[in-house]
Amino acid sequence: MRSHLHSALFFGYRDEASFIDKVRALLLALKSTAGSFTGDNLITFDKNLSFLADEKFMASYDAHAATKIEKGIIWRTAVLAWAAKNALRLPGDFVECACYKGTSARIVCDYLGFAQLDRTYYLYDLFDHDPAMPHHRMTEHGEGLFETVKARFEEFPNVVVTRGAAPASFAKASPGAISFLHVDMNNAPAEAAVIEALFDRIVPGAAIILDDYGWRYYRAQKQAHDAWFAARGYSILELPTGQGLVIK
Ligand SMILES: C[S@@+](CC[C@H](N)C(=O)[O-])C[C@H]1O[C@@H](n2cnc3c(N)ncnc32)[C@H](O)[C@@H]1O
Repeated sequence: MRSHLHSALFFGYRDEASFIDKVRALLLALKSTAGSFTGDNLITFDKNLSFLADEKFMASYDAHAATKIEKGIIWRTAVLAWAAKNALRLPGDFVECACYKGTSARIVCDYLGFAQLDRTYYLYDLFDHDPAMPHHRMTEHGEGLFETVKARFEEFPNVVVTRGAAPASFAKASPGAISFLHVDMNNAPAEAAVIEALFDRIVPGAAIILDDYGWRYYRAQKQAHDAWFAARGYSILELPTGQGLVIK
């Protein structure tokens, strides 16, 4: 079992090489690196890092996290895996807005053996960049991405991948009851609109994970979600990973 995990994925430094040298120096100043984690703008030490001991999660992660970003956001993905596992004691389907390459959803599918479950995982995305949208182009956006993502879930007949702008695309396919919702669109108006469209279908006890909630760069998302949830009597927990967590 791994006792620590060190990634060089950080955002916002002035000089990457000098920043990473200083992170290395910090690690060298520890009595022990057991329990230390670096990456995704987190530097922690002397923690249990329970996800490293979850063999099924780590096997799913190792199988599907390929890029520096995918590998570096492991703690965020462990939060998703926890929320999805929590959903198994509730009725309802899984939803991700939006899935991009489908990496985190694929990790969750392997982790839970999703093909064997009597539930559906609904994945939504534009799959191509739309300059009219406020979010930035991502490297794999393009004509072929929709087909590539569908192929990635070929062995999961209960994963439904839908192309188009959410929430309008929910008219093509969407669940009646939801036990797990991951919102990760880098797009404040669209995120607010999908929450508005889906909230009543989310079952009590289900976790909603808001990927961008704690990141200062995406402050517009925090402002939109704080106001919306507060008006309904909910408050959002900001996690050290940068995610927001709401339990309905
Ligand atoms: C950060 S990526 C999602 C990453 C993915 N959740 C994961 O864990 O690997 C954000 C995605 O949101 C999509 N997106 C933004 N606005 C959208 C909208 N209105 N409808 C559908 N997808 C949208 C973008 O196309 C982009 O692929």
